[in-house]
Formats: sequence, structure tokens, C-alpha cells
Amino acid sequence: MVSEIPTPSAQAGLRALQAMARHKTPLAALETFHAELGDVFRAQLPGFSPIILVGAEAARFVLVTSREDFRWRVDTDPVTHLLRFGVLVVDGEQHDTLRRQMNPALHKRMLAAYIAAMVRASDQVCATWQNGQTLDMLVEMRKIALLIIMETLYKVDFTPEMRPLWNTVLRTIQFISPGLWLIWRGTPRPGYARALRQMDDYLYRIIRARRTNLGTTEDLLGTLIHSGMDDGLIRDQLLTMLIAGHDTSTALLSWALYLLGQHSQILETARAEVDRIAGVEMPHAEHMHELTFLGNVIDEALRLYPPIHLSSRVAATALEFNGFRIPASSRVLFSIYLTQRHPAHWDKPGEFIPARFENKIEPYTFVPFGGGPRNCIGAAFAQVEAKIVLARILQQFDLSAVAGAQVHAHMGATLEPRPAVLMRVQRRGVFVKNQ
Ligand code: HEM
Repeated sequence: MVSEIPTPSAQAGLRALQAMARHKTPLAALETFHAELGDVFRAQLPGFSPIILVGAEAARFVLVTSREDFRWRVDTDPVTHLLRFGVLVVDGEQHDTLRRQMNPALHKRMLAAYIAAMVRASDQVCATWQNGQTLDMLVEMRKIALLIIMETLYKVDFTPEMRPLWNTVLRTIQFISPGLWLIWRGTPRPGYARALRQMDDYLYRIIRARRTNLGTTEDLLGTLIHSGMDDGLIRDQLLTMLIAGHDTSTALLSWALYLLGQHSQILETARAEVDRIAGVEMPHAEHMHELTFLGNVIDEALRLYPPIHLSSRVAATALEFNGFRIPASSRVLFSIYLTQRHPAHWDKPGEFIPARFENKIEPYTFVPFGGGPRNCIGAAFAQVEAKIVLARILQQFDLSAVAGAQVHAHMGATLEPRPAVLMRVQRRGVFVKNQ
């Protein structure tokens, strides 16, 4: 028998609203619905009622077994308007061709070459930290992530643009974040045109500069130019990778620091490991396999606060999942967040326990980078980057959390710790090598 997808009762709706007000995030509402309705339900907002799927089986269904029955692209979504024909928002052959062209620059063998740039960017930002200063790690990690993505993938030093383009970057991210446009489609969205134009001007400028002096074709920008792509399509890929490749890492790094700040014992264990493995040396490729505890800290941060907390799709045809009917053209959201906190998959799901990653993790219960052929192209890059940046900070600084406004998971383009991750930094009395 095939059933209709359940929807929340009025009481559950009320409880969801209360939970949302208490925890300051719509994720709390989704948790309430999940607890009441199970792994398949319909969230009902006026004008927007997506089907939410949760759990390992749903992950396999959406990302792997039925992937051909789903589309990614929705022409009316702001992300499509912004990224146009970026690899993230196209489907079918067009997607697979772009993905093949872009894969080599993100391949594991390129990572060793990127590590030095990752250390340099971390050091450059850390060098501005004053002893005893309180910093917002959400801001500091964005600076590092921006420098890294621009230097590694495009061979561009972002330092001179950091200040002039800072608000442009934030505004661009805001443009694709969830908002009232989800409910009232087609409502005018004034106030973005200038930022989007500035972003385009910048990207076309770096494409033109590189065309006149191509140099290496190993990085992503070089690869794209070498492939014969026109400037417009290159711009789409550059913007896709700039946003997808730095906003996610910013979120991961700032959540990891937030969690370490709340768990001093785990912070100490992570630092002891970094001292033992890297000492005062610059972290390098071999260290990546050896920093296992730090790797578990990163995985546990990704589990609790996956920067991309859902995979959004549209059913290309009528489908069935676990006895439920999914009508054609339905918006289907696979919840990474709820899956990675599913009580059936995880013991003490809400607690920060990095050591749980010493055990075998069941397939599709931990999917912070998605899965199947549309998994994250930058997964290996992001994991190395997180290890390098955190190791470099732990080598050089004592960190302590500073009490401030309660941190909540803000649903922007990524899941961010807002309003800030305040930490006091104290330089350690060790001299670390920087080459
Ligand atoms: C902590 C860091 C990151 C996380 C958690 C993350 C997460 C994800 C997830 C969950 C997806 C799949 C979305 C879906 O199924 O709809 C994805 C796709 C993607 N990610 Fe990442 N990502 C991260 C870093 C990066 C980096 C560093 C880059 C680029 C250098 C990147 C570029 C992309 C692109 C282009 C796609 C689309 C792939 C495709 O459709 O073929 N991401 N990412």
C-alpha cells in the first residue's frame, strides 16, 4: 500500500514554533516534526511545503539509487540566478562534463601542493592576532578560507581585496540564503544588484588577467581557461567554487573552534596530538594521516553542525519511498542534519564525542559531503584544509571561550555559529617554523 506523506498536527506546529523560538533556529522545528512523524514528512509553510527525508536509507535513495529521478536545478531559485551554469546547479550531461573538467584540480594528488598555501594563509591571519585579544572566530576563519580558496584554485592573492570585497562576499552569500523568497516567490529583492555586479567585475578581471598570462594550467582557473571555455562559463564555475569552497570551510572551522572552546579536555588532547606529531614544524602531507584525533574532532563537528545541512532536489517523476508517494515535481529535502543526529544511528546524538569516530561508522549515517556522483567535489580539500588550519592555530595559541550571546545554528547558505564565536587568544611561548 502506498500512503500519503504525513504532515504535522496543529499541536506539533505549535511545539515546533516554541522550539524554534527557544533555540533560535528552524532546525529545532524540523527536529520536533521528525520526532512526531518519523523519517518521511511534509513541512508546511505557506507557499512552500517540501517533503523532508531523514536517515541512512533516505540518503541512499536520494543520493545514489534514485539519483537519476531527481533534478538539482530550479530555475527560479536565487542560487540558480547567481551561479547560472555552475557545476552545482546543472544536471545531466552538462553536469557530468563540467565535473570531469574540474575534478583534476581537486584531485588528492594536488593536495600536497596546496598545503603550503593553507599554512601561509593561516599564518598570515594569525599574525594579526594580538596577545590577549578577543576575536570572533567566524570572521577570522572566513579570512583564512578566502585566502586559501583564491590562492590554491585560482593562483590569486586575495589580500588586497579582503577589505574592499568583504561586504560584497557576505551580500552574495545572503542572496542565496533561505528567506522570504521561499514563501513569496518572485518578490523583488532590492539591495543586491551592486554587490553582485562588483563580484562579477572582480571575477571577470581575474579571468582576463590570467588569459594574458596563463602560466600553469594545473590549478582550477588555468584548467578552465585551457579547456577552451568562454569567460561567462568560467565565471560561473569560479563563483560556484568561491562560495561553495569557502563558506562551508568557514562554518566548519568556526564550529570546530566553538566546540573545542566548550570542551577544554578535548582541546587539550587535540593540542597534545598536534605537538607530538608536528612539533614546531610546518604541518605537511604525512602529518595528515597521523593527526587522527584532530580528524575525529573535525568529523564530530561536521556531524553535529554539517555546514550543508540538507540536499535539495526536485522529483523529476512520481516516486515511492518506504511506502510513501512522492508526486512528480515535489521539492524533496534530504536532511543531513537530522540524519547525523538520528537516535537510531547515533548514541547520545546531541553530545560532542570525537572518540565515537574511532569505531566503524555505518554507511550513509554520516554524510556531511553528500554521496554518489554529486558528492562534494572539495571533500578531500576541505578535510585537509581543516586539519592544517586548526593544527596551525593550536601550535601557536592558547584559546579560551569568551562568554557572549548564546550561539545558535543560523541557517544561511551554510549552517553558521551566530552571532559570533568569541575566543581569547594567547600566544604560546613556542617558536613555530614557517618554512
Ligand atoms: C566543510 C566543507 C564542505 C562541506 C561540508 C561541503 C558539503 C557539500 C555537500 C553536502 C555537497 C552535496 C550537496 C547535495 O547533495 O546537494 C557538496 C557539493 C559541492 N561542493 Fe562541497 N562542501 C565543503 C567544501 C567544499 C569545497 C572546499 C569546495 C571547492 C573547493 C566545494 C565545492 C562543492 C561543489 C562544486 C559541489 C557540487 C558538486 C556537484 O554537484 O557535482 N565544497 N558539498
